[in-house]
Amino acid sequence: MTAFTLNGKSVNVNVSPDTPLLWVLRDTLNLTGTKYGCGIAQCGACTVHIDGAATRSCVTPVSAVAGKKVTTIEAIGVTKVGKAVQQAWIAEDVPQCGYCQSGQIMSASALLAKNPDPSDADIDAAMAGNICRCGTYNRIRAAIHRAAKGA
Ligand code: FES
Ligand code: FES
Repeated sequence: MTAFTLNGKSVNVNVSPDTPLLWVLRDTLNLTGTKYGCGIAQCGACTVHIDGAATRSCVTPVSAVAGKKVTTIEAIGVTKVGKAVQQAWIAEDVPQCGYCQSGQIMSASALLAKNPDPSDADIDAAMAGNICRCGTYNRIRAAIHRAAKGA
């Protein structure tokens, strides 16, 4: 059994300790907002927060989050920064297919929580690991600047 806090609630899962957190979220806990893209920490689609840090859940064994706080896209709007990011995403009409966007929003929220007024270079550095096949990068950058003003 592995116990951790998920979106503010205690959970206890009975899975093999080396199960990737991504599959525990999606298959065991039915939170499918976090996406599978590559499975090898190369695309960022599976990004969640672990104790506030943007983390690739596809390469994080569930045992690594024992006793920690995990936040997913389903609950990011509860935080002030997360809400500002989601509103900015809507205002800038960021998503195209949408597949990468949970991960993008989680990385952007982690950036703004640490750095409330990031430069373009700060944004590019923080978001470099989040790939978007639809090429929404310019709108992501605009939305992060917008959220920085509103957060
Ligand atoms: S699915 Fe985790 S980084 Fe691509
Ligand atoms: S919006 Fe389609 S992959 Fe990013």
